[in-house]
Amino acid sequence: MLKFENISMEYPSASGGILALKDINLEIAKGEFVSILGPSGCGKSTLLFIATGLTRPTQGKVSIDGKEVNKPIHEVGFVFQDHLLLEWRSAIENIALQGELRDMDKKQCLQRSQELVELVGLNGFEDKYPYELSGGMQQRISICRALLHYPEIIMMDEPFGALDALTREQMRIDLEKLWLNLKSTVMLVTHDISEAILLSDRVIVVSPRPGTIHSEIGIDLPRPRRLHIAESAEFLDYKKQLTTIFMDMGILRE
Ligand SMILES: Nc1ncnc2c1ncn2[C@@H]1O[C@H](COP(=O)(O)OP(=O)(O)OP(=O)(O)O)[C@@H](O)[C@H]1O
Ligand SMILES: [Mg+2]
Repeated sequence: MLKFENISMEYPSASGGILALKDINLEIAKGEFVSILGPSGCGKSTLLFIATGLTRPTQGKVSIDGKEVNKPIHEVGFVFQDHLLLEWRSAIENIALQGELRDMDKKQCLQRSQELVELVGLNGFEDKYPYELSGGMQQRISICRALLHYPEIIMMDEPFGALDALTREQMRIDLEKLWLNLKSTVMLVTHDISEAILLSDRVIVVSPRPGTIHSEIGIDLPRPRRLHIAESAEFLDYKKQLTTIFMDMGILRE
């Protein structure tokens, strides 16, 4: 469904170009949940921007269902690295914004917003403003906003980056539930090996800048992946494989 062909990206800079990505070839199937795992600065956010037409690559092309992406696409829900909520809108109004921008029927938009609020366990907080919500709650709202219009593609750029470990774990469970319900195609960017294994059908490991695809691992764990799956031998084996890859790249050292 989503195809990257020979993608390279060089950002201009005063001291010559910065090569962020180099020769990325990747295909993602419809309904697949793929994580992009790599160190800071390797071009992960850039890859999501290119996939959705927000950034034009300096080389190569991206296509969706065979159609080249050459402008920002509509059929996507994007959770940005920073949650980007509007401070002057309540939680539910922030979610509904997605529908307003898309001229969705008002009643349907509010109904769906409410449904999502319940799915992520935020009933009772609909009318609170972002400053009245914790970081985890704000991030949940931004995920709901990205999912409001039943997007075919969901891009998530470290959606749990700012959260504490317990909230992350719960968000992971909640996100899987949402995804199992929607069956959208997901690209999730993360630094976190366990998170990548627990959520994905496939983990793509990106090398340090310039980002290239170093390796990929298919994750064959049953869904839904419950809390205790992280103690299973299969999970630990995937974790060991990925840790070894990061050691080989020199990113993790003893
Ligand atoms: N708009 C830009 N202009 C110039 N250089 C940029 C721009 N955006 C990103 N870069 C550079 O491209 C490289 C990749 O950046 P990118 O944000 O894609 O990395 P990342 O993998 O998402 O990092 P992180 O995990 O820290 O979010 C970095 O060296 C960064 O400095
Ligand atoms: Mg980034």
